[in-house]
Parts: sequence; C-alpha cells; structure tokens
Amino acid sequence: MFKIVDKKQLNSSVTSLTFDAPFIAKKVKPGQFVIIRIDEKGERIPLTVSDFNSDNGTLTVVVQAIGFTTKKLTALNVGDSVLDLVGPLGLPTEFGAPKKAIVIGGGVGCAIAYPQAKYLHSIGVDVTVIAGFRSKDIVILEDEMKAVSNAYFVTTDDGSYGRKGLVTEVLSELLNKGSYDLVIAIGPVPMMKFVSLTTKPFGTKTIVSLNPIMIDGTGMCGGCRVNVGGETKFACVDGPDFDGHLVDFDELMRRNSFYKQEETHKCRLGDNK
Ligand SMILES: Cc1cc2nc3c(=O)[nH]c(=O)nc-3n(C[C@H](O)[C@H](O)[C@H](O)COP(=O)(O)OP(=O)(O)OC[C@H]3O[C@@H](n4cnc5c(N)ncnc54)[C@H](O)[C@@H]3O)c2cc1C
Ligand code: FES
Repeated sequence: MFKIVDKKQLNSSVTSLTFDAPFIAKKVKPGQFVIIRIDEKGERIPLTVSDFNSDNGTLTVVVQAIGFTTKKLTALNVGDSVLDLVGPLGLPTEFGAPKKAIVIGGGVGCAIAYPQAKYLHSIGVDVTVIAGFRSKDIVILEDEMKAVSNAYFVTTDDGSYGRKGLVTEVLSELLNKGSYDLVIAIGPVPMMKFVSLTTKPFGTKTIVSLNPIMIDGTGMCGGCRVNVGGETKFACVDGPDFDGHLVDFDELMRRNSFYKQEETHKCRLGDNK
C-alpha cells in the first residue's frame, strides 16, 4: 500500500497527490512515470512523476480528473492509500548538453514539464518556459515554473490571462529572435504536433512526451505502439519521450480515440465493472 501524504487542488479538475514511496523516489528521474492501481478491481493508469524527493522518500503526481479512475483517485485524501504504485517506468529524458532550452507545457502537461525545467535549471541551463491554458481559471504551477526558469510566458486561448493565443506563437517569436538548442513540449497531442512543426525549419532538437493508451507498461502488450521515424516503438519502454520531428502524431490521435465509447460508458456506470 502507498499512502497519500499531501494533497493540493491546483484547479477545479487538477490535483497534486504526494505519496510515500521511498524506493521509487530514490530511483526516479525526470521523464519517467508510474502506474497506479487504486484497489484490487481497479484499472492501471499511467501518471508521470511530477516531482520527487529522495531524502524524505516522497513522489508527486499531478492528476487531471477526466474519467472513471482519475476521478476516483483524486477523491482520495491524505491518509488514504492506493494498492499498487509501480515504477519508475519508461526511460529518463535524454537532454543532451543544451545551453538554452525552451520547455513548453500545455494544460496538465505543465506538471509533467515541470521536472524537466527544474532539472535543466539545476544544471545551469538557460530555461524559458511557455505555459499554455484554455483560460485563467485553470492556470497551474505558475510560481513553481517561474522559480525554475529564466523567462516565463503564459498564454490563454481566450486571452483571460497572459497573452491571448497559442504557445506556438510565442515559440515562433523566440526562435526567430534567438538561438536555442533544445525544445521540450508536453501537453495535448495536437499541441506537441504543432510545436514540432514550428521547430522543424529551425532544426532545433525537439523532445515530446507521448501518452498513448498503456496497459502493462512493460513492453508486453503492444497497446502503447507508436510510429516514430517509420519504426514501431513502444512508448512505455522506448519512451515516453521521442524526437518530435519523427513522431506520427496523426496515428497517435487515431489510436488514442479507439476506446472512447467504452470509456464514456464505464464512466456513466460509475463502478468497476
Ligand atoms: C506515459 C503517460 C503519462 C501520463 N501522465 C499523466 C499525468 O501526469 N497526469 C494526468 O492527469 N494524466 C496522465 N496521463 C494520462 C492518464 O493516464 C489518463 O488520463 C488516465 O489513464 C485516464 O483514466 P480514466 O479512467 O480516468 O479515464 P478514461 O475515461 O478511462 O479515459 C479518458 C482518456 O484518458 C486516456 N486513457 C485512458 N486509459 C488510459 C491508459 N490506460 N493509458 C493512457 N491513457 C489512457 C484516453 O485518452 C482516454 O480517452 C498519462 C498517460 C501516459 C501514457
Ligand atoms: S503498455 Fe503494453 S507494451 Fe507498452
């Protein structure tokens, strides 16, 4: 059992949960994820480690409540436990040796991008963060991102906070003005696709973190198959980070919507059947 030792509501649908998980906290690196199962009947859901502290043995995940299991998980409180928390899974991010990097987070993707920005900042990289949200009320982790970046931009689709527009507009301006050797983009698949298309003409190394449907998370089931540079890769063991210039994002979007009907049905049923 893994106990929740801290819980913060970041916006109406996004919750930060910190677990007591000393063995994983000692090993995990930015870019890796865990698979959580709440109870015996529960489904396994992958969640990226948003923060960790190897000294006190805790790890934090930031969860957007969008379906049956994420709603059940975010309803738990400090002192409650989950049955399984398996990890660290996946490969750590391969940053190379950048001097200037742009880290882009879209929505809850900001929580997944945070450890990347934090790590790069800690090793002296000049980090610019671009955080994109639909509107002001769902902006998350602003202070945390500012603390680990040299420059911070926030955009909202409706202009209710920061700059009105898309993260790619700010990105394009930055790339036209200065030179960067790394862009990391984490968020909705269309956002990662358009970030990769924006950086391609500049030849800037671009890392994206893919979120295909995962089942076992250990390379056995093939559920998380993605096409990268014409080759089949399994996001759970070969990723989840990949070169954004090589990913077939359209195929990923098609595969991610395979089970929409079943997921909606299950959420309506509201139990573990
Ligand atoms: C490597 C990886 C890291 C992720 N990290 C985070 C994170 O840090 N925070 C966060 O909020 N979400 C994260 N996700 C997405 C999260 O796993 C899904 O939101 C969750 O599984 C949805 O389950 P549900 O029962 O609540 O929703 P459902 O109603 O079952 O599904 C809602 C949507 O979630 C996606 N989904 C469903 N089941 C899975 C599955 N087994 N694997 C992957 N996606 C699924 C599908 O796109 C689906 O349409 C990550 C996904 C992957 C693959
Ligand atoms: S989740 Fe089964 S192979 Fe990746």
